[in-house]
Amino acid sequence: MLPKRRRVRTGSPHSAVTSSTPPATRFPGVAIYLAEPRMGRSRRAFLTRLARSKSFRILDVYSSDVTHVVMEGTSAKEAICWQKSMDAVLPGCPQPALLDISWFTESMAAGQPVPEEGHRLEVAEPRQEPPSSVTVPAYACQRPSPLTHQNTFLTEALETLAEAAGFEGNEGRLLSFYRAASVLKSLPCPVTSLSQLRGLPYFGEHSSRVIQELLEHGTCEEVDQVRCSERYQTMKLFTRVFGVGVKTANRWYQEGLRTLEELREQPQRLTQQQKAGLQYYQDLSTPVRRADAEALQQLVEAAVRQTLPGATVTLTGSFRRGKLQGHDVDFLITHPEEGQEVGLLPRVMGCLQSQGFVLYHQYHRSHLADPAHTLRRSSTLDAFERSFCIFCLPQPQQTALEGALHPCPTWKAVRVDLVVTPNSQFPFALLGWTGSQFFERELRRFSRQEKGLWLNSHGLFDPEQKRVFHATSEEDVFRLLGLKYLPPEQRNA
Ligand code: CTP
Ligand code: MN
Ligand code: MN
Repeated sequence: MLPKRRRVRTGSPHSAVTSSTPPATRFPGVAIYLAEPRMGRSRRAFLTRLARSKSFRILDVYSSDVTHVVMEGTSAKEAICWQKSMDAVLPGCPQPALLDISWFTESMAAGQPVPEEGHRLEVAEPRQEPPSSVTVPAYACQRPSPLTHQNTFLTEALETLAEAAGFEGNEGRLLSFYRAASVLKSLPCPVTSLSQLRGLPYFGEHSSRVIQELLEHGTCEEVDQVRCSERYQTMKLFTRVFGVGVKTANRWYQEGLRTLEELREQPQRLTQQQKAGLQYYQDLSTPVRRADAEALQQLVEAAVRQTLPGATVTLTGSFRRGKLQGHDVDFLITHPEEGQEVGLLPRVMGCLQSQGFVLYHQYHRSHLADPAHTLRRSSTLDAFERSFCIFCLPQPQQTALEGALHPCPTWKAVRVDLVVTPNSQFPFALLGWTGSQFFERELRRFSRQEKGLWLNSHGLFDPEQKRVFHATSEEDVFRLLGLKYLPPEQRNA
């Protein structure tokens, strides 16, 4: 059922602007949009004339005034896809009823709108219910978080506040805002009124106030102020530099530094990693595309194959979660025979370097004599052999003519993380490096608080029985934790 309000809304005073005809007065709660794809232009024009002759209000352009969308020869699934694409154009706009042409023809025959029941294009899932009737589990690892969702406008605001709290070192506040944002990401439909937040976990006074302001005014003063502030902008600028965390960025800010130029003027204060980060800043702050990630995978796979036959390379991080863009590319390397992977990374790096693909890399050898060591300490930091690198990725060649018209560089600097794991720890490492970072955090919190178990990228540990669990897949790990399996695309919490 759609909320009643959406179906009985009266036309706005601006409706005549979006429609080319005078507003009809007979059925003020009904504003129809005929969606063209399967209907064809001439049939649409004919149906429009027919309806207007019977004093129905037909809108030529899709807008927030539309109450009824009519489609012909369209499945419910296609209709919902279409509606999603419209949501992207008009975010936060109330969703009209999606109806089959049969509703339209019956209404024309009756000379008035007939009930919508039996004509709706809907699939048998609760996506059209308001979120207040949806129960949302408390931990992000207990619910699917798809790549795209219906509340981007609201989550971006909450995430800005979370990030700003992180810049101030306020962990509690950071978590509150991230948790509230993550709940909104899992909702099946857009939040259009504050009442829909009732009963949702992690909506405290502050987050609710932000949402209320956004729903009422389209902006939130606090969020706008943060985004415009020198503090936020500078911290954002500095923490985007490879090798710079919040602590360092804050120190520089407190010392009065504000620009990358000022950082470049003081090379003696910079680590090698930060120098590389500044040197390639422009490329590294441009999103990495999926095609780049795939090209990199081929480069890395070739080097790994050459170094140790049988070793495998798995794409993890944001690209495994289905993202089309990322800030870097993450790979996990292993070998089916435990022990074979030891010392592999320096050889792989040597191979890639000799081919000119490595602009910078920082190698960390595994400091893991005993695999359960990190778990016993309940550490969240892992201790795998790894390399945080900047690769030189050749860009696709242009034709001579294209090159002359729009010259573009022949290579691009890209951040790459390479991690090597023993085969027995692979499922935990895969789960731990797929992210999102907030999802991982929630998974560990759930393990600890709800199950009394310690989880990290090396394994799962029962501190009471002093026992390490065995797993051969990510599914195994979810099962051990008593959680329903979530594929990577549903871990975008
Ligand atoms: N990670 C980790 N230890 C690190 C760095 C990262 O365990 N030292 C994990 C994070 O928890 C995250 C995953 O690796 O879940 C990927 O991290 P990152 O590349 O920073 O983020 P992505 O989710 O891939 O997003 P982006 O596109 O920004 O790279
Ligand atoms: Mn990543
Ligand atoms: Mn990474």
